[in-house]
This record gives sequence, C-alpha cells and structure tokens, in this order.
Amino acid sequence: MRVLVTGGAGYIGSHTVVSLLESGHEVEVVDSFVNSKPSAIRRIEEITGRAVPAHSVDLRDRAAVSGLLADGRFDGVIHLAALKAVGESMQEPLAYYDNNLGSTYSLLQAMAEHDVRTFVFSSSATVYGAKAPVPYREDFEPLESSSPYGQTKVMIERVLEDVAVADPEWRIALLRYFNPVGAHESGLIGEDPQGVPNNLVPFIAQVAVGRREKLSIYGGDYPTEDGTCERDYIHVSDVAAGHVAALEHLVASAPQVRAWNLGSGTGTSVLQMIKAFERACGRELPYEIVDRRPGDLAAFWADPTRANAELGWAATRTVDDMCADTWRWQSANPTGFPD
Ligand code: UFG
Repeated sequence: MRVLVTGGAGYIGSHTVVSLLESGHEVEVVDSFVNSKPSAIRRIEEITGRAVPAHSVDLRDRAAVSGLLADGRFDGVIHLAALKAVGESMQEPLAYYDNNLGSTYSLLQAMAEHDVRTFVFSSSATVYGAKAPVPYREDFEPLESSSPYGQTKVMIERVLEDVAVADPEWRIALLRYFNPVGAHESGLIGEDPQGVPNNLVPFIAQVAVGRREKLSIYGGDYPTEDGTCERDYIHVSDVAAGHVAALEHLVASAPQVRAWNLGSGTGTSVLQMIKAFERACGRELPYEIVDRRPGDLAAFWADPTRANAELGWAATRTVDDMCADTWRWQSANPTGFPD
C-alpha cells in the first residue's frame, strides 16, 4: 500500500515507518517538526535503505493537507501527529484541543475529499479513564480521561465513530497504546524528548548517560507489590508492528471502526524498570522516592485479547529487551538526534 504517516519523524512514527517499509509498503511522511528533527528521517533511510519523502506541514493547514492527498497518491493514512505531554496539556489545554482536534478534522476532511478512507488512529490507554477495572478490555467504552491530552484522544475516537456511521466507506483502526518504550535494535532511532523528559524510561536513560543526576520516583506508597506504580510497558518496535497489522487488517477484513489494545498484558513497577535498566547499562542508578505525581493511577495494564486474535499480533519483546535497546540508542546518541 501507499501510506501517508503523520508524525512520521516522531518516536512511534519513525519506528512505524521502518516497519511499513520492511513489510513492503511505500511510505511518505508529513510532520510539523515542532517536536522532532529531519535527521530522524535520514536515520530511517539509513536503516531501511529506502528514500522516505518527508513534507514539513502543520496538518491544520487544510489546503496543504489536501495538496498532499491529491491525485490518488495514497491508499491509507496512519495518524500519529499530536501534542502528547500530559502535564503541559493541563497548563495549555487550548493549545492541545486546537492542535490535536484541528489537525485531525483537517486531515479527515482532506481524506474524504480525495476518496481515501482507510485510517489508523494513534489512541491511548488513557481513554479508559480512572474508574475502569484492570486489565483494560478492548470492548470497554472510552469514558473520560484525566487530562486535556487524554480528552483529545477520547473526543477523536468519538468523532471517528460518527464519521464511520455517516459514511460506511471508512475503515478505521483505534490503536490504544499502553506505555511504549525502547528503541530500534540498530540504535539509530529512539525517543528524543525535548527538555526534561516527562516519561519514566527516557528519564532513566538520561540518568544512565549522565545528563541527569538522579531519578525521582513519584510515590512509594501505592497499593502495589513494591509500593511503586505499575504500567504495561511495550517495545516501540512491537507497537510499530501493531500499526502494520492493523492497516493490513483494515484492508483484508474491512471492519468499519474497531479498537485494539497495543499492550503486553503484564504490569511492571517503577522499581522493576530501574532494576532492568541497571542490568542493561551495567551500573547502579541513583533515585529517590518523592511525593506522588497528581493524576497518576496506581496500576493498569492491557487485556490485548482482541488484538492478538484479530490482528494476529502480540508483544514479543521483554522488558530487558526494551532497556537494552533504549541504552544502545541513548549511549550512542547522548543528546538525541543531530540537528
Ligand atoms: N515516573 C516516575 N518518575 C519519573 C517519570 C515517571 O516515577 O520521572 C513514574 C510515574 O509516576 C508512573 C510511571 O513512572 O508511575 C510511568 O510514567 P510515564 O510518565 O512514563 O507514563 P504514564 O503511564 O504516566 O503515561 C502514559 C503515556 C501517556 C498516557 C498515560 C495514560 O505516556 O501518553 O500513560 O495512559 F496518557
């Protein structure tokens, strides 16, 4: 297939582009580059030996998006471009609603205009909300999320349901990610957060490489086995493979709109993750336990039964693989992608 990947220079996008190319698809990228660098594209080309056309466009620019989709150049779109920092979304909710919703509306309108109706959407486990029982099942209705970032995912899922009802030609995958971590096994691409990392594994990696003094663990008194929060960490290359599987399933089986969990089905605590990273980098990592972070849930993980059965997809890489690959990327690229 000829696939347009929005946010294709970003963390999950870059790995998804590699997986698509390795599965025989043709790929172009559109990215605003506000949170990513063009050198990520060059690294994808180095890994795959293929040229990847990349367009620097803000998706809210409807005319530009329409131009990209013109002339029947694409069979489907994988939409990952979004702002994604939970804490920042609490400070700047309008920026999040404007960007994440506006870019999606513009993209969907341009797709309908040019008769492209195969769509894979980057959603999140956060749509299950704070009250859903664990593990989160794919048939649970998204209720509400605790942040404006998460609300944009809930709202877009709802918009996509409505779009599919109004026009049965649409084929839509809702991929609910749990906690993607790790890096490509080559060490050439990986997560490159701008500023202080919000997420656990990028922060640990920066401590390991000497960019940060120590990790703060947000809360040691949760009702979990060791008192720290548990999450369902999933290797980003497994997440990328999930996109390819979902896209191919949309074409082969033609569901109208369907949600799948991209998670492993097991929880790992913050302390267990630190220990795994210590094994990967070969040294002890300094940390201290501090107050809880507002909004964090104690523990959640996926029930990926539907993704396993319908997509023929499952997470294959272990927590030790995730840490080893993150460390390979971080130690080879201590300050992330080159400018
Ligand atoms: N944590 C620390 N110290 C840090 C960073 C994180 O102890 O410096 C802890 C958090 O308290 C949490 C765990 O590590 O218990 C994981 O935190 P992350 O920030 O890595 O991930 P979250 O589970 O909070 O967030 C993820 C995604 C969001 C999504 C959210 C809810 O990154 O996009 O899950 O599904 F919204």
